[in-house]
Amino acid sequence: MRVSFRASALFAAVAVLSSGVQAISKVSRVGRYLYNEDGSRFYIKGIAYQEQGTVVASSDNAFGEPSDFIDPLAISDACKRDLPFLQKLTVNTIRVYSVNSSLNHDDCMTTFSNAGIYTIIDLTQPLNGSIDRVSPSWGTNLLDQYIATIDAFSKYDNVLAFNVGNEVVLDNTTQIAPFVKAAARDIKAYLRSKNSNALVGYGAINGASNFRMPLANFLSCDPTNGNSDAFAIDLYGLNDYEWCGDSTFQASYAGTTGDFAGYNVVAYFSEFGCITSPPRLWTESAALFSANMSNVFSGGVAFSYFPASSVQGQFGMITIGGDGSVQTSDDFNRLQTQYTQLSPPQSPAQASAPAAAYPSCPSANSSWAASNTLPPTPNLAACNCLESSLGCQFTPATTNYSVILGQLLDGGCGLLGQRGASCADIGGDGQAGVYGRVSACDPTVKLSYVMSQWYEINNRDQQACSFQGNGTVNSAAASSSASAVATSCIASPTATFTPTAPAAAVAGAATSGSGSGNGGSSSSKGNNGGSLYDVNLFIGVCAAAIISIAGGIWTLF
Ligand SMILES: *[C@@H]1O[C@H](CO)[C@@H](O)[C@H](O)[C@H]1NC(C)=O
Ligand SMILES: *[C@@H]1O[C@H](CO)[C@@H](O)[C@H](O)[C@H]1NC(C)=O
Ligand SMILES: *[C@@H]1O[C@H](CO)[C@@H](O)[C@H](O)[C@H]1NC(C)=O
Ligand SMILES: *[C@@H]1O[C@H](CO)[C@@H](O)[C@H](O)[C@H]1NC(C)=O
Ligand SMILES: *[C@@H]1O[C@H](CO)[C@@H](O)[C@H](O)[C@H]1NC(C)=O
Ligand SMILES: *[C@@H]1O[C@H](CO)[C@@H](O)[C@H](O)[C@H]1NC(C)=O
Ligand SMILES: *[C@@H]1O[C@H](CO)[C@@H](O)[C@H](O)[C@H]1NC(C)=O
Repeated sequence: MRVSFRASALFAAVAVLSSGVQAISKVSRVGRYLYNEDGSRFYIKGIAYQEQGTVVASSDNAFGEPSDFIDPLAISDACKRDLPFLQKLTVNTIRVYSVNSSLNHDDCMTTFSNAGIYTIIDLTQPLNGSIDRVSPSWGTNLLDQYIATIDAFSKYDNVLAFNVGNEVVLDNTTQIAPFVKAAARDIKAYLRSKNSNALVGYGAINGASNFRMPLANFLSCDPTNGNSDAFAIDLYGLNDYEWCGDSTFQASYAGTTGDFAGYNVVAYFSEFGCITSPPRLWTESAALFSANMSNVFSGGVAFSYFPASSVQGQFGMITIGGDGSVQTSDDFNRLQTQYTQLSPPQSPAQASAPAAAYPSCPSANSSWAASNTLPPTPNLAACNCLESSLGCQFTPATTNYSVILGQLLDGGCGLLGQRGASCADIGGDGQAGVYGRVSACDPTVKLSYVMSQWYEINNRDQQACSFQGNGTVNSAAASSSASAVATSCIASPTATFTPTAPAAAVAGAATSGSGSGNGGSSSSKGNNGGSLYDVNLFIGVCAAAIISIAGGIWTLF
């Protein structure tokens, strides 16, 4: 949607004359550095900007992840209320963890753009809106969610980056990384197809060098060994809480800076601000934006503007009073003092910044389990074809079907296993680099596929499609088996391609069978199916991440 450079510059000049507001500078990446239009280096001087959602305490939510969210870019009064405080802090970037693509963001995005504030937008949402840490997959449901958000935001001139995940890969689950990389690959291709130059990012949990460096290198490498950037993220975020209290560069950051010294794309701290040795002095920002680190990192995002509780204690710099006014804390004042003083080095100059190289990917070993064979691009048309041709379809009686979906998959796969069949077609294994041909479909389609196999094993006895009232025989089904339908619908199960936005309003219609004979079926069944498990979005807690399991664990291989 970007008009040509000259036209927008002209438009900007007119805008300056009429409103006194200067259009925000376009930021571009050269290799591992970011530059403003005038060639000066761009550093992310950021703050996390999202109120914490509802946190339900439970045994599988030990770290207190929220189960819902408040889209901070859809509340124009709040954006206007907060702008003067963000300006006091002199931030140039806010990071937002979840947005709702069906809401209007014009007011907030314009307010922030006019004030020279960029946004880093995470494409993920709580619960099933992120790549699952226990049963990972990169499917049509998440791709559609990500695309809907990109479509809602790519028209704004102040989106610096879209993050494809936050703390998805843990040091003991590195086999999840191929799913994150596939998401980055497809989102990058989609952004390019829309002529968007927003960066593709990821926010990583910190850890030992032998975890965080292979992960960083994996997400920015070229698995085809062709020095191609098509598989690489542009912006690597490290959620770094190493500097606590009154520390020093040498004690807190020297190791990390050394680790990232040879990194090929832009790196920054996607969160920082340790709370374990209060008060927070924020003196780490002086180190982060100094010559000790500026060749390696391009700034960071202080956590967090709004209050946010964690197992470690309370984050946050302001509170909203009963009268709706903003009350700042000493924490705010100290960050303001530090941020205001920064004057990071300008080197290297844009003209002398080396272009990025995209090295080959780290090979797997006993501590790094990710395969360099990535999951395919989710193919909505192929998955819709499959769903509408299957003999037995998942027709949940509730729109809130995530939880039963996990239970039914567990049960269905267990039944298939007892009869010598398997769920291998719907599963994916990021360690082996083997992805079942139905693995990139919506979880509801996967369930229909499992139900249909069971139905066939039982000679298409209608009872075998009931699943306690969750399944419906599809009278429009093909006469061939589920497996044969998968072969014909999903003709290229390993293909990668540039995704396209799903046709509007296809959701629901396309997956509810071919129309006839499904009179009573639920219209709730959209393309964006439930997930096997609930994984709560991890908002800014610096300790390990959480897995909230709604269904049991099913083993595929
Ligand atoms: C997004 O906003 C719409 C309209 O208010 C609402 O119906 C929907 O539930 C929201 N989605 C999420 C994921 O919060
Ligand atoms: C990985 O480690 C986390 C804590 O760091 C733990 O909760 C989780 O169960 C572990 N997962 C596996 C698969 O071992
Ligand atoms: C696995 O490889 C990574 C780099 O690719 C390295 O950092 C790590 O130490 C290796 N682990 C083992 C156990 O060899
Ligand atoms: C940079 O590193 C040196 C050596 O550790 C240290 O003396 C200096 O204080 C550091 N500068 C900043 C701004 O942290
Ligand atoms: C969805 O269902 C689960 C389990 O049945 C329940 O805990 C949750 O509150 C429901 N969510 C909504 C939004 O109804
Ligand atoms: C669907 O499956 C769930 C989980 O097995 C079960 O609790 C429920 O009773 C079934 N039937 C309906 C109509 O939801
Ligand atoms: C999450 O599950 C809900 C139903 O519980 C569904 O409406 C939504 O589309 C799902 N989202 C994704 C990304 O799968």
